[in-house]
Amino acid sequence: GLPAEVTIYEVGARDGLQNEKRTVPVEVKAEFIRRMLAAGLRAVEVTSFVHPKWVPQLADAADLLGRLGPAPDGVRMPVLVPNERGLDRALDAGVGEIAVFGSVTETFARRNLNRTVDESLAMFAPVVERARAAGVAVRGYLSMCFGDPWEGAVAPEQVGKVAGRLAELGIDELSLGDTIGVATPGQVVAVLDAVEAAGVPRGRVAVHFHDTYGQALANTLAALRAGVTTVDASAGGLGGCPYARSATGNLATEDLLWQLHGLGIRTGVDLEALAATSRWMAEQLGRPSPSRVVKALAPP
Ligand code: HMG
Ligand code: MG
Repeated sequence: GLPAEVTIYEVGARDGLQNEKRTVPVEVKAEFIRRMLAAGLRAVEVTSFVHPKWVPQLADAADLLGRLGPAPDGVRMPVLVPNERGLDRALDAGVGEIAVFGSVTETFARRNLNRTVDESLAMFAPVVERARAAGVAVRGYLSMCFGDPWEGAVAPEQVGKVAGRLAELGIDELSLGDTIGVATPGQVVAVLDAVEAAGVPRGRVAVHFHDTYGQALANTLAALRAGVTTVDASAGGLGGCPYARSATGNLATEDLLWQLHGLGIRTGVDLEALAATSRWMAEQLGRPSPSRVVKALAPP
């Protein structure tokens, strides 16, 4: 069966913008997030407290959070945090939820965090512990769960192994990332089963599909049928660098909404309002949204 309701975890302001070469003004980011909240999204990832040299676009994280103010009741506004320095900055900004982000492959752990898989888990341990002690919720991401551009195929058991170790740190939710968008639906079920076998309950798992090969919606449907109820997506399909074939945008939130609403699944999100927001954001960025649904809903 399919769930009656799905939580959309919106990543456009973070995953969508982090590769954007031209600096987006902080007030534009704030307005983007306000409009997404007004459209009914209830989990909106805001930014990252990472090293500003690694992700210059998100160097304005504290300023952005200051402009937005505290999350309204019932709304999650998480931020990415890789280490204790990032946690200090996030706590100073008053966040109520953070997300640590690991990798199931050694190559990407090294490239993304300058650490081995073991070292990254050791880096997250005090972050998760301190966050929880401060009453801050913790999401954990795992990247390259379905394939890695340097290492090739990734076995579901490898995902299960790292997922179990990350879950043991005490995270509230685990998001399985198809960072390069290569997954296909059968593989999704195999990875979900391996993660469940490693002790992470299905109810705590989210899926995070990039849409490089056009499989994200099919993969999402497979995940929903397998009992997943939280799906990551990016308004307008924002994201990705046109020069790196391994880094295209996430599943577009509007494309996801069209499917979910068509299936009679509740999301609480106003599709027309979100599509208008994505068209507005596309104007700010100076290029059209790649989302099929945003294009289809555009006024003539
Ligand atoms: P490092 O160079 O190993 O850092 O980078 P370090 O621990 O050696 O520290 C070096 C200096 O950086 C120190 O300063 C630290 O204070 C400072 P110094 O003492 O030399 O003056 N520093 C920081 N400053 C500000 N904020 C911080 C911070 N940490 C250290 N948080 C590090 C390690 C983790 C910092 C670096 O690799 C990094 O920032 N990586 C972030 C990469 C990133 O953001 N990637 C994109 C997000 S992941 C993603 O997109 C995938 C996802 O969408 C899921 C999917 O699709 O698969 C989530
Ligand atoms: Mg991503």
